[in-house]
Amino acid sequence: KVLILDFGSQVTQLIARRVREAAVFCEIHPNDVSDDFIKSFAPKAIILSGSHASTYEDHELRAPQAVWDLGVPVLGICYGMQTMAVQLGGTVEWSDHREFGYAEVRAHGHTKLLDGIQDFETPEKHGMLKAWMSHGDKVTALPPGFKLMASTPSCPIAGMADEARKLYAFQFHPEVTHTLQGAAILTRFVRDIAGCRGDWQMGSYIDEAVARIREQVGDEEVILGLSGGVDSSVAAALIHRAIGDQLTCVFVDHGLLRLNEGQMVMDMFAGRLHAKVVHVDASEQFLGKLAGVTDPERKRKIIGAEFVEVFQAEASKLKNAKWLAQGTIYPDVVESGGTKTKKATTIKSHHNVGGLPETLGLKLLEPLRELFKDEVRALGVALGLPADMVYRHPFPGPGLGVRILGEVRKDFADLLRRADAIFIEELRNTIDPATGKSWYALTSQAFAVFLPVKSVGVMGDGRTYDYVVALRAVQTSDFMTADWAELPYALLKRTSGRIINEVRGINRVTYDVSSKPPATIEWE
Ligand code: XMP
Repeated sequence: KVLILDFGSQVTQLIARRVREAAVFCEIHPNDVSDDFIKSFAPKAIILSGSHASTYEDHELRAPQAVWDLGVPVLGICYGMQTMAVQLGGTVEWSDHREFGYAEVRAHGHTKLLDGIQDFETPEKHGMLKAWMSHGDKVTALPPGFKLMASTPSCPIAGMADEARKLYAFQFHPEVTHTLQGAAILTRFVRDIAGCRGDWQMGSYIDEAVARIREQVGDEEVILGLSGGVDSSVAAALIHRAIGDQLTCVFVDHGLLRLNEGQMVMDMFAGRLHAKVVHVDASEQFLGKLAGVTDPERKRKIIGAEFVEVFQAEASKLKNAKWLAQGTIYPDVVESGGTKTKKATTIKSHHNVGGLPETLGLKLLEPLRELFKDEVRALGVALGLPADMVYRHPFPGPGLGVRILGEVRKDFADLLRRADAIFIEELRNTIDPATGKSWYALTSQAFAVFLPVKSVGVMGDGRTYDYVVALRAVQTSDFMTADWAELPYALLKRTSGRIINEVRGINRVTYDVSSKPPATIEWE
């Protein structure tokens, strides 16, 4: 296995991700672990991450001596390269201007690490790489025994190597996708240079994670708020695999879930996985609190506060619970790390199951903290969760509460649930001939919205005066911006026909053709 020492870079997780993609197991640990830790870890290779710090100013931030003594291949990235240079007798110079962005890197010296890896076909750019740089300081003199491996016009030593000792380093970041050959370089390092076999799979990740959870939790009990969403479901399945009945899932049904969703969650976790699940049907309580409330922000706040209350009441009944498990994933960690600038105004106050207060006095168990969404999904499938569940569109914490405009009423929710289910069924059943994928897979999120306005229609010989639903389907990679999906007319036609015929109480269906921004994905 590979040891990644983290010097505090924003993108250390990406190194781990690339190594996992090369089917090699790795773990991230802080840069200041002890020499003994490193020896007992017995890594086949070590990677030193970047950092926002400067070797020039921060004399403490160094790799432990064991990194150099162990004799295994070491790859230094950015700050990792600088500390390698400083610790092995080279020179690093401080600079007050940062180089940031693309650079064309020229390879030198035919190192095993870069041999045959290049971006350009033309002879004059032979052996060059498009790489992503972000640094201020740079190495200005190679340590003894090292040769130049790569350079750019503004950074003459952009890569260095001591091939006899299998020490390699880059000033640029091979772990980010902007460095086009980055994955190839990291794969070369861990597989060919370090000799890792590349047979690691999600299955082995499960074994490692299970062992870690057992060690962390011991014989104590854990509670987890199950929402039916992907992250909390995968976390539940993983923790259940590790500790079985020491885990109790609390599933708060606020009455604003999609059609049959509560039943599906219970069938899956209580029925198939035999996990302990407390199903709290709090729909009347939620609807009671929401009665007469029309303002979107107030609705969100009420649902959020009520959720916490119900969950806490259940949690306090589980006297032995010492841990609160959450399906926090890596992007959530980055976002809450305060690294992103906070938006000046709250567009919508988000609520989800992850937003439980610290007043519960429980220790946090977050086994998915290192994983990206697609890895969480792969893990879910490897744990035996159905692909349908794992590849579901996201669903907001406040549920149908933000998809029924204005006052939330049970009769509105019932109509909306049925219309929404028809839309989703049609999306799943309609295959796009060009890609062979269903329109459900081709959209990032799709749902129906209930509009509490009535319009006139005609059915049979009679006049109707009923409600409207809007269909919304978007395509997006990050949910920050989104385009409305150009669904086939035939699909829209079938969906609208079925909704109006099958859901008595709705006589008109519209399609939302607004992009985000300026519209948001949800209507409230
Ligand atoms: P908007 O409507 O802001 O939505 O464009 C962006 C994404 O966030 C989801 N969303 C929520 N998710 N709790 C959640 O867990 C919330 O309160 C919430 N509000 C919006 C929305 O479904 C979309 O995927």
